[in-house]
Amino acid sequence: MARVALIGGDGIGPEVVHVAASVLEAAAERHGVALTLHHWDLCADRYLREGITITDEERNRLVDEYDAALLGALGDPRVPDNVHARDILLGLRFFADLYINFRPCRLVAPALSPLKDPDPATDIVFFRENTEGLYAGLGGSFKTGTPHEIAVEESLNTYKGVERIVRAAFEHADRTSRSRVTLVDKANVLSYEGGLWRRVFAEVGAGFPRIARDAMYVDAMAMDLVRRPQRYEVVVTSNLFGDILSDLGAQVTGGLGLAPSGNLNPGSWALFEPVHGSAPDIAGKGIANPLAAVGCAALVLRWLGMDAAAADVDACVPASIREGVTTADLGGAATTGEVGEWMAGRLRD
Ligand SMILES: NC(=O)c1ccc[n+]([C@@H]2O[C@H](COP(=O)([O-])OP(=O)(O)OC[C@H]3O[C@@H](n4cnc5c(N)ncnc54)[C@H](O)[C@@H]3O)[C@@H](O)[C@H]2O)c1
Repeated sequence: MARVALIGGDGIGPEVVHVAASVLEAAAERHGVALTLHHWDLCADRYLREGITITDEERNRLVDEYDAALLGALGDPRVPDNVHARDILLGLRFFADLYINFRPCRLVAPALSPLKDPDPATDIVFFRENTEGLYAGLGGSFKTGTPHEIAVEESLNTYKGVERIVRAAFEHADRTSRSRVTLVDKANVLSYEGGLWRRVFAEVGAGFPRIARDAMYVDAMAMDLVRRPQRYEVVVTSNLFGDILSDLGAQVTGGLGLAPSGNLNPGSWALFEPVHGSAPDIAGKGIANPLAAVGCAALVLRWLGMDAAAADVDACVPASIREGVTTADLGGAATTGEVGEWMAGRLRD
């Protein structure tokens, strides 16, 4: 029996997770697979009520007792330092060593792309390193707040960290019959980390002779993602470059309202979340677009090995756009709940 923890979180998080849960239940029913969903109260409300973000015991239970978690969003104006989001989201990422940030960017509806004549075949998967690089928190400041202030931020790149993300990208390309993996870096300037990434990329890639490999500098890649995104299939890159490029990829393939993501440690645990935030400006109004959360539901099913159910959930997203059953941000008139009911009905039919 697969077990999934649902963490609604803040703002529109619980609204979109509610839709994802109903879609997961309907897909599990349709395919006769056993799936248990449990809601977890980890959010700003709980922090403000009890002064607790997440306890060590909760972190342990989430990872030990569940196969994966699906999180809505965290971020609340009443917690300006976002301490609860940091403890819960980043805490889980580091605690469970979720070293892959998996960001699929597939053009499901060309009309939603800001590009002129986008290629309908555009389908990129970003493998962003999720635990190292410039986000490792190494650094400090000296003479802070004075005109002589010095701030240093170090980029951490370990052989182990680079090897496992590069290998994950090639393994994914192999498993999903993709023909090319692209490394993105800035090796012409950041030569130490660039040297390590390029060496490992060549080493690991040599084990996958069917798969073509190329390397792009990040500035050229930013331009090319706008010019000809259809050229890219699997992209592997560092934490910082992946953070930026995967948002660019999401935008050219339809916007953040459609973009799911996964934080993965293969064979161990995973946490899935829509790329958008908690959108406090529209929370509680029933107009939050749940498609990114539905995309996450499909990723959860795929993570659990329930590929047929995942494919059916995936298909709900373009279908709802085609049929005009969308929220106002995509031009429709449906509420968040109505989109969910329509999809669950489609899956049960
Ligand atoms: N992974 C996460 O949990 C995550 C990610 C980004 C931001 N945040 C947090 O969310 C809060 C708000 O951040 P922000 O305003 O910069 O980004 P945001 O993504 O929440 O909102 C940006 C804009 O997009 C709209 N929007 C976002 N998601 C939408 C959806 N599903 N349907 C329709 N419209 C949607 C919002 O109404 C807003 O106008 C902050 O506290 C931030 O820290 C959390």
